[in-house]
Amino acid sequence: MESLAKNVVWHQAAVTRELRQELNGHRAVNLWFTGLSGSGKSTIAHAVEEHLFRAGCRTFVFDGDNVRHGLCSDLDFSESGRSENIRRIAEMVKLFLEVGVIALTAFISPLREDRQRVRELLGEDFIEIYCQCSLDVCEGRDVKGLYRKAREGKIQNYTGISSPYEEPVHPDLVLDTGTSPLETCIAKVLSLLKTRQVI
Ligand SMILES: Nc1ncnc2c1ncn2[C@@H]1O[C@H](COP(=O)(O)OP(=O)(O)O)[C@@H](O)[C@H]1O
Ligand SMILES: [Mg+2]
Repeated sequence: MESLAKNVVWHQAAVTRELRQELNGHRAVNLWFTGLSGSGKSTIAHAVEEHLFRAGCRTFVFDGDNVRHGLCSDLDFSESGRSENIRRIAEMVKLFLEVGVIALTAFISPLREDRQRVRELLGEDFIEIYCQCSLDVCEGRDVKGLYRKAREGKIQNYTGISSPYEEPVHPDLVLDTGTSPLETCIAKVLSLLKTRQVI
């Protein structure tokens, strides 16, 4: 099939990503949090965002809630649905990087291949942060009561129960969210951003 995008030509913008970053006073990157449900992705992403925002950075958190209900409301939780969900999020994040924003993403993103595709799309702007936490602890927390429903068979394809989670092989950062206090995890992320000269 002929690509529909064939005759779509890039417009050369005068306001570039570099100029936006200069105005913002920091680099644009994607902090990609991955881990089981209840491992702390949303909690840490929002807490880190708050620190960055107070420090004058342009930030935004993408989470299941603001993506699954809108942009990806047509997708299910099958393998192909999850892959397409991640693909769309990555493309959206790419645009936000052009805006000069620090984009924090909090998605289970259980499949290595899907995350690898994001890394390929975003290159060095992709910072993979693994929220490492045992299934026992996550299930014990059961923040949304979904593990119980999954155990009762009321939810299909639930990561960790009836759907796989593939740990990152070479994440940029591992947070021990099952045993470390939240403050320690936040500090580690902020420290990485300084080391990488993002802020
Ligand atoms: N070190 C930690 N990092 C993140 N969350 C933690 C930590 N320790 C305990 N928690 C708790 O674990 C839960 C994580 O839930 P949430 O952030 O919604 O997970 P996810 O977004 O990965 O599904 C929250 O209730 C949070 O207070
Ligand atoms: Mg969450």
